[in-house]
Amino acid sequence: MCGIVGYVGTKPAAPILVDGLARLEYRGYDSAGVAVVGSSELKVHKDAGRVRELEASLPKRFGGKLGIGHTRWATHGGPSKDNAHPHVSADQRIAVVHNGIFDNAGVLRAQLEDAGVKLRSDTDTEVLAHLIEQAEGDTLEDKVLAALRRIEGTYGIAVIDLDFPDRIVVARNGSPLILGVGDGEMHVASDAAALIRYTRQVVYLDDGELATVRADGYRTFTQDSRTTTKTEKTVEWDAEEFERGAHEHFMVKEIHEQPEAVQRVIRGRLDERFHAVHLGGLNMDAREAREIKRVKILGCGSAYYAGQLGAQFIEEVARIPADAEPASEFRYRNPVVERDTLYVAVSQSGETLDTLVAVQELKRKGGRVIGLVNAVGSSIAREVDGGVYLHAGPEVSVASTKALTNMAVGFAMLGIHLGRIRDVSPADGRRLIEGLKKIPAQIQAIVDTEQELAEIAGRLSRHESLFFVGRTRGYPVAREGAQKLKEISYRHAEAYQTSELKHGPLALISPDVPTVAIVPDDELLDRNIGALHEIAARSGPLYVVTHPGVEIPDGVAAVIEVPKNEPELDPILLTIPLQLLAYHASVALGHDVDKPRNLAKSVTVE
Ligand code: F6R
Repeated sequence: MCGIVGYVGTKPAAPILVDGLARLEYRGYDSAGVAVVGSSELKVHKDAGRVRELEASLPKRFGGKLGIGHTRWATHGGPSKDNAHPHVSADQRIAVVHNGIFDNAGVLRAQLEDAGVKLRSDTDTEVLAHLIEQAEGDTLEDKVLAALRRIEGTYGIAVIDLDFPDRIVVARNGSPLILGVGDGEMHVASDAAALIRYTRQVVYLDDGELATVRADGYRTFTQDSRTTTKTEKTVEWDAEEFERGAHEHFMVKEIHEQPEAVQRVIRGRLDERFHAVHLGGLNMDAREAREIKRVKILGCGSAYYAGQLGAQFIEEVARIPADAEPASEFRYRNPVVERDTLYVAVSQSGETLDTLVAVQELKRKGGRVIGLVNAVGSSIAREVDGGVYLHAGPEVSVASTKALTNMAVGFAMLGIHLGRIRDVSPADGRRLIEGLKKIPAQIQAIVDTEQELAEIAGRLSRHESLFFVGRTRGYPVAREGAQKLKEISYRHAEAYQTSELKHGPLALISPDVPTVAIVPDDELLDRNIGALHEIAARSGPLYVVTHPGVEIPDGVAAVIEVPKNEPELDPILLTIPLQLLAYHASVALGHDVDKPRNLAKSVTVE
């Protein structure tokens, strides 16, 4: 969502801040701004719009070797210049950027107004600048601490003050913050993407922690001013991975990267001797794994659909009852937390707040939680008891593709692992491991049909409203296909179990409402073919995603064939053409594929 950057060092800050913001834009992008400490004044430049517009309009004289910046995705107050960050104190000496939400902002705004402060924005963040200005304290750190004591809510903040021109003070409570350690310079960011061009040595702040960041180093401390000890980590992603290269959009680049991404997630984990899977990061021995009575997967959006694929695989293969639930709902229904349930949090960013708070709630109640997470060192990855890193590489496009695929592969590995120490036979273990090994080449074969899929997507995109249908293993595939199309083409797409069509939605089938049907060559093939006839009989155009050799009734709008793998693994491959259909539909409709309206990459508010 929103992004924070900060720099202190020997170079002009503004270009580094703007460059960092451009790399964070995928997280939120309705407005942006920077503030630097000049020789005698605090300079602030901000506006609604994209970072490149901010850059183009940056005043000539914007010197200063220390500063902060922000890209905003509106929560409190619409996108406008006044609501853009940084927000400044009444005396124009303090500037603040903030990710998260101050829950008691309304009360604080009223108190400030009663005290005669003229607020310039509709945001929750502005109150912090005024509270710091009014706070007692000899140092900026003391003032920030005093101000934060009056705040309720979540935050990652960075603060600069003309009276303390050598430092940035940052604090974290529920919103990620990373310090980047350079040579004679320091960076601050809410996401490693912003600082990776300058340094890969980072320090992850924990909730409740603050830091003073100066050119020559940093000091971290708690809210009661006790110094904390941190270990510096090396970010494994390269700066080039954040570049679009020859591809027109990040989404299509990331679709093309999938064969390699899958190779990375399976590398070193498949045991061909014992037909098993090694997941060393689970921190769970075989005895503990055998005692699991249920698996509950929690994630949001596409990660939730990946969780549905995972639950299907685990229940079918490992024979453990498994289901997935949106993490965003889980906490609010006061769920019973069972000791013999394995809870799995799944997330690309590792920062989705709904998923993070679900994990925290589970841990509070004694649940065992593991993570399937892509971003190393992210909040969820650090909160869970163990897990499987997904190694998909950085995902920049808002619409998730390679991360989702690696989540599905990660769940398959978890299912085989649990299955092989319970009831799965060596023969089945071997069959599934051989299947996993084939996936990268099979994804490549699908990606190679991109031109054909682009042509089909062009036709599909002319319809305002579509159905996606699938059964059992194919249902999460249909849900993800509909989600992808909705997100980036803004077409209305609804997913249904094929078997449920006749219980209602069939009434909507018409020549204007096509159906994308997932028809794998499996034990439900005859029934799926029957449903195609039902749809065709109502003149509904059919786009069928299926396997070679399946006889599809004549007259359908398109048949998309996907290489066959093992039935339990087929859903992973069936999802791939749907990514390309959504991508090319969005391109055909002229939309900004990587930055779909109203959406942000990582949703760090509840
Ligand atoms: C869809 C999409 C979102 C995310 C969801 C969870 O393409 O990207 O639905 O899947 O917001 O994000 P993570 O995986 O970062 O927790």
